[in-house]
Amino acid sequence: MSTHGKPKSGAAIDALELLKADHEKVKSLFLAFESLRENDNDDDERKFELVDEICYELTLHSMIEEEIFYPMLRSVIDDDDLMDEADVEHAGMRDLISQLEVMYPGDDHFDATVAVLGEEMAHHIDKEERDIFDVALESLLNLEELGERLAARKEELDDDLTAPPTPIDAMEPHNNAHRTPRPPD
Ligand SMILES: [Fe+2]
Repeated sequence: MSTHGKPKSGAAIDALELLKADHEKVKSLFLAFESLRENDNDDDERKFELVDEICYELTLHSMIEEEIFYPMLRSVIDDDDLMDEADVEHAGMRDLISQLEVMYPGDDHFDATVAVLGEEMAHHIDKEERDIFDVALESLLNLEELGERLAARKEELDDDLTAPPTPIDAMEPHNNAHRTPRPPD
């Protein structure tokens, strides 16, 4: 089981540090995969392990962001466009992850699919650390309390990926959080 994101000797966890640590971990996994490719290394077992871990780590990371971080941030800032784009980027990554989950090293387009997921992840990291983290720092969110919630949910998902989320409390509904469906043309 991963111990990632857990506090060291009871220290408080800052939400942004936790998410950044996730980014660093996934980046290093992609780098390891890339170096196998660059060296024409056909160690399919190692490639499989790396991609399995990339998909798992990205899934946990996306889930805690989508369930907790993004809705809480959306509720206290007035920038739906920024958060909508983050949602769409996550959906794109999820799609590639689900393709990789049924692929194996050596399959047609396996390496290319990993490479495109890596590019999307790099874009996600860039944008999130540049724009979304800035907005979070300027917001009224208690980042340590949020960090505790993210870490707790991550640990719960690490034990059971199907564990249902706890409803987010203490969060004012955002005006545009629930949009009326578009009427049929
Ligand atoms: Fe992220």
